[in-house]
Amino acid sequence: MDNIIKLINKAEVTHELTKNELVTLLKDNDHNEEIFKAADRVREKYVYDEVHLRGLIEFSNICKRNCMYCGLRRDNKNIKRYRLEPDEIISLAKGAKSYGYQTVVLQSGEDDYYTVDKIKYIVSEIKKLDMAITLSIGEKTFEEYEEYKKSGADRYLIRIETTDKELYEKLDPQMSHENRKKCLYDLRKLGYEVGSGCLVGLPNQTMESLADDILFFKKIDADMIGVGPFIPNKDTPLGEEEGGEFFLSIKVTALIRLLLPDINIPATTAMESLYPNGRSIALTSGANVVMPNVTEGEARKLYALYPGKICVNDTPGHCRTCISLKINKINRKVSEAKGFRNKTYKKETIN
Ligand code: 5AD
Ligand code: SF4
Ligand code: FES
Repeated sequence: MDNIIKLINKAEVTHELTKNELVTLLKDNDHNEEIFKAADRVREKYVYDEVHLRGLIEFSNICKRNCMYCGLRRDNKNIKRYRLEPDEIISLAKGAKSYGYQTVVLQSGEDDYYTVDKIKYIVSEIKKLDMAITLSIGEKTFEEYEEYKKSGADRYLIRIETTDKELYEKLDPQMSHENRKKCLYDLRKLGYEVGSGCLVGLPNQTMESLADDILFFKKIDADMIGVGPFIPNKDTPLGEEEGGEFFLSIKVTALIRLLLPDINIPATTAMESLYPNGRSIALTSGANVVMPNVTEGEARKLYALYPGKICVNDTPGHCRTCISLKINKINRKVSEAKGFRNKTYKKETIN
């Protein structure tokens, strides 16, 4: 049998690959369909046909960081900034609930306006709606994460972006890779469901480094992993660089499903911003989550991480219908549960 097919079979059966094996699969381009299909089978076996929807609230585009790839970076003067008040955020969560979402993801730049007390107020009010809450608000201290958790936050997303320390510190000036990792460990210690992820196609990123990213997610036993292609934004220092490739980001997603069979993996907005029906392709290549935007009004357009972002001119209601249709079209169902990770794979290995 072809060596590559053997590796795909090994991954599908054992959920283990070495770094060299991952690099071989990442560099090969003749068997991508086989990798996507294997990931789709593993998705079906471990997390079934249900797609979990998370209503995404992008509540502030103000950020004190300066990541070289991101449109929200503080040095970008070419963007109108906004921040929503706690009660406006709560009201968007109520809207999300009315559309049937069981989870909201509260995402923002790193904006110190939202003190611990404000976040606790927002989280505890949304908890009263009987929704799961995911926070995605950046690097905080252990004590801050602890306070959010106590007020009812269930999950936390913080992408490592790249596990290549040198590349990371070049792309995220003044940020420490060690601290970012510490955040992930702190969140785990506090009992959050932990989400991370990476960008695909960053300047000077190698296949070896993407293989390290995938193995890192396995090592930390992440509960959720979101991957997206890097999309150059002309208002940033990386505006003239080449962007990431859509199918490489799908392949990284598929490989993550093969190695972490029971986790939640979103079909990301960046994928569809780069390629028509990108989320449907991701959902049939290992992904099982979609995060439709439930932000309303001007804020929706202003959370401009990268150009070409889908849904900026649509309403939350329109996206809700649109995503259901897309999910039905690929013969899957919208889940009515909160969609926590069910550690079936771990159980199998322990028993
Ligand atoms: N292209 C794609 N994704 C980006 N992000 C930030 N800037 C870009 C870009 N130019 C992603 C980062 C961050 C998430 C909120 O958005 O990975 O974690
Ligand atoms: Fe801020 Fe996040 Fe953008 Fe970095 S990626 S500039 S931390 S919003
Ligand atoms: Fe927003 Fe389709 S999900 S328009």
